[in-house]
Amino acid sequence: MRRILVAGNWKMHGSRVMVRELLQGLLAGAEKETGADLAVFPPFPYLCDAQAMLEGSPIAWGAQNLNPVGQGAHTGEVSAGMLLDFGCRYVLAGHSERRTIYRESDEDVADRFEAALAAGLEPVLCVGETLEERERGETESVVDRQLAAVLDRCGIEGFARAIVAYEPVWAIGTGKTASPDQAQAVHSFIRDKFVSQDDIIAGQLRILYGGSVNGSNAAELFAREDIDGGLVGGASLKAEDFLAIYRAAA
Ligand code: 13P
Repeated sequence: MRRILVAGNWKMHGSRVMVRELLQGLLAGAEKETGADLAVFPPFPYLCDAQAMLEGSPIAWGAQNLNPVGQGAHTGEVSAGMLLDFGCRYVLAGHSERRTIYRESDEDVADRFEAALAAGLEPVLCVGETLEERERGETESVVDRQLAAVLDRCGIEGFARAIVAYEPVWAIGTGKTASPDQAQAVHSFIRDKFVSQDDIIAGQLRILYGGSVNGSNAAELFAREDIDGGLVGGASLKAEDFLAIYRAAA
């Protein structure tokens, strides 16, 4: 059986003091539970603290992005090798904020996914439609296009060590969660796309839901067949809120 993964994307929030307190709070709560997996995605500068505090604990950590180039004259960028130096297991690829604010194209996202796999990191491929796209009935075609860019590049084998996160843009940071039915419909569409290529990889693939997940709606979402966990933004910034989601999963 797949284990639920509860992952916290801290985005560009916090300070060193806050991060250390948050990690302490999570460590105190997580050690008591065993039913689900827990991971955090701090901003780059705090990966060092994450590694120092989480090593040997049940909590994994990852980064929010990487530059696909191995090394070189790329001022301001961070490579996969650097993330490995700080013990990262995961890295996000194609979060909607990267796609919209920083204009990362489907090809750019595929570059990142491919570089993460090549380095031995587990990429978390984020996909999802905007409100306008949903209202135009384009949810499936948008998600299909975003998945296809990576599938074409890395093949279905690339997803044997990867995670997909469905994050409808209209649900991110808005308090408007997709209903369990809405989320399940897209998750099952995503899984079916993989099933047609390799049913074993598709069956094992973890598909997370992201978009205003909190302690009150998590259990109902995670109960659905194809929702294998959550990628949590706002509610992952307070240990008790994030642990409530973790307990809902366990
Ligand atoms: P919120 O949980 O704040 O809606 O953010 C979701 C998200 O973007 C996680 O990557």
